Amino acid sequence: MDLKVENGCIKEDNGLGWGKSLPVQSVQEIVTNGYQSVPERYIQEIKDRPSSISSESLQASLQIPIIDFSLLAKGDEHETRKLDLACKEWGFFQIRNHGVQVKILQTMKAAMAAFFELPLMEKKKYAMGANDLEGYGQAYVVSEEQKLDWCDLVALKTLPLEQRNLNFWPLNLPGFKEAVEEYSIEVQKVAEEINANLSILMGIERDGLKRYQGELKQLMRMNYYPPCSSPDLVFGVSPHSDGGSLTVLLQDDDVIGLQIKHKGEWIPVKPIPNALVVNISDAIEIMSNGVYKSIEHRAITNEKKARISAAAFAHVDDELEIGPLDSMVDDPHRPPMYKKIKYIDYIRQVLARKMDGKDHTDLVKIQT
Ligand code: OGA
Ligand code: NI
Repeated sequence: MDLKVENGCIKEDNGLGWGKSLPVQSVQEIVTNGYQSVPERYIQEIKDRPSSISSESLQASLQIPIIDFSLLAKGDEHETRKLDLACKEWGFFQIRNHGVQVKILQTMKAAMAAFFELPLMEKKKYAMGANDLEGYGQAYVVSEEQKLDWCDLVALKTLPLEQRNLNFWPLNLPGFKEAVEEYSIEVQKVAEEINANLSILMGIERDGLKRYQGELKQLMRMNYYPPCSSPDLVFGVSPHSDGGSLTVLLQDDDVIGLQIKHKGEWIPVKPIPNALVVNISDAIEIMSNGVYKSIEHRAITNEKKARISAAAFAHVDDELEIGPLDSMVDDPHRPPMYKKIKYIDYIRQVLARKMDGKDHTDLVKIQT
């Protein structure tokens, strides 16, 4: 356990034990202080820069599946088939009629906005520890040389409730704890119903995926993307796939930012007011033996407006092994495509590297 002194008080840092991120300046602070041009460390190499979106990509954006969750929860066959196809072909989909009240979504958004509006000194009271990824800061900074994302964030362990580290929570910000708590519980119900449907689709019992993931662990990453004078030079979040099992994203209703890789092209995910965005993450890709895809995605910034999002990542119990489910392996037609690996070993490998496209799952891919 680390003890560190910050703002005059000693803070205990138990750590997730998953990895760490080097401290860098708040991007919001750069913007508030004013800047002539985007600082070098944020400017992507020419080959990596976000290109402008073609009319074909905008067209393809309309094809991103939209699932009616209420039908899914009733066991509607057509909607279940749609879910299956969405996970196979896109790895991403939006859900409406998800049952999370609009008021809960709005309160969550307002709570996040209020947090990022706090003075920097106040936010720094919840700064990430040297050995961990929980708290306020910037994620995935693993070297002094790497390019940085135009984003500040606060990452909190939200579930199970008894495992929260409340010293990272801004408890004197009225309503913040209640808003995040309520939203995280609601969003978990949505994730569980999707898991139940995916279990059946993968030929295991309804609670199969839940059992394979062990004790539920939810991490909420709240992203703040300040406006950027040159959105074509930087990333809000660089291309990556999510390391968990399933991610549910609450995005801004007005500001577009999220893009997903589909058939080699970057496709924007246009916000649908009050819908949630769901994506298959690495652990389910591995368990499904590659049938369901954990897709590369990224976020771009906006020249005029800040954008806020909340990604709720479901994680597998650290001590459990992940690997292709027996029901998804059919030797010799569909041999296992991934090695079995203990989840904590997987996630440590993922977090020790700069987010770089889809090479995380390649680490455990069986070479053929
Ligand atoms: C993430 C992520 C996208 C967004 O936090 O992992 O992909 O639109 N966020 O904020
Ligand atoms: Ni992501």
